[in-house]
Amino acid sequence: MKVLGIETSCDETGVAVYDTETGLRAHALYSQISLHAEYGGVVPELASRDHVRKLLPLIRQTLDESGLQVADLDGVAYTAGPGLVGALLVGAGVARSLAWALDLPAVAVHHMEGHLLAPLMEDDPLGRPQPPFVALLVSGGHTQLVAVEAIGRYRLLGETLDDAAGEAFDKTAKLMGLPYPGGPQLAALAERGRPGQYKFSRPMTDRPGLDFSFSGLKTQVLLTWRDSDQSEQTMADIARGFEDAVVETLAIKCERALDAAACDTLVVAGGVGANKRLRARLAQMAERRGGRVAFPRPAFCTDNGAMIAYAGALRLMAGQREDASVMVTPRWDMAQLPEVA
Ligand code: KG4
Ligand code: ZN
Repeated sequence: MKVLGIETSCDETGVAVYDTETGLRAHALYSQISLHAEYGGVVPELASRDHVRKLLPLIRQTLDESGLQVADLDGVAYTAGPGLVGALLVGAGVARSLAWALDLPAVAVHHMEGHLLAPLMEDDPLGRPQPPFVALLVSGGHTQLVAVEAIGRYRLLGETLDDAAGEAFDKTAKLMGLPYPGGPQLAALAERGRPGQYKFSRPMTDRPGLDFSFSGLKTQVLLTWRDSDQSEQTMADIARGFEDAVVETLAIKCERALDAAACDTLVVAGGVGANKRLRARLAQMAERRGGRVAFPRPAFCTDNGAMIAYAGALRLMAGQREDASVMVTPRWDMAQLPEVA
């Protein structure tokens, strides 16, 4: 089955074709970062309009690169939520119209399920991870630990009570004067920082439980930054201290979650999953426990169309279909999804 996947939930237009027989055939991404940079964050109306401009050319480009015509497609998958309502409607409208015109089945994909399943798309010497496993979802909008009992059967183990991990990266970068989106830049800066120069707390690790809180960490950095000499080296040292605190906190909670769910496989997804130190720290933890950790390639940690095409293909193969109405769900609990039979 050849499935076209469309992602427009926030500020990236992503398109891909996944073939259930041969794997990913093509994918293309257009990032709106430069459009939103001058405002310091995503402006929803500008995001919607840019998806309108970019989506159809990107679909044509992806089909060309995959060597397929629209008539070769067997289904269309689109992100229906969570996300910005206007942005979601662009992808859903185009996907539904295309499916209607071509008389193809269409399926609505949950953006976070797309992230969660992305590591299963990658070839792995150990084989693709199979449920049951624990997933750490760390993006700009979510920080969740999820027990994946089956594909589509998700049990929330813990989540952030305030800022998401990516949001904490972005806000901390911003308060030190780095341009939007600061997460990857803060991580790059931390590479030049000396470990241990600044030590920030590991929030909520001193008590049992699997929830997170990252907003206090940002305040600690703000106070430290204000009182410092604000030199380049100091900035790098603080970035390193902040990154170490986030990575360590996530690692401690992941290990607890694996124990709680009695699992030995951890799957990591979402933009912060591209963070090198997090990847190394979790790989070290998995090795020590004799388990394994699986990540998507860094380009598929952040938003992309491939994860939507893949998650949609699994659901279409299982017979799931939407009716012809264009519906999006800007707030959507993953636990409500139907299991993929
Ligand atoms: O999954 P994603 O592309 O979008 C959402 O669904 O939110 O995640 C974006 C988030 C941003 O907060 C960004 O700063 C963060 O992921 N991020 C990183 C890195 N790359 C992206 N955070 C830390 N280190 C990175 N290398
Ligand atoms: Zn995302």
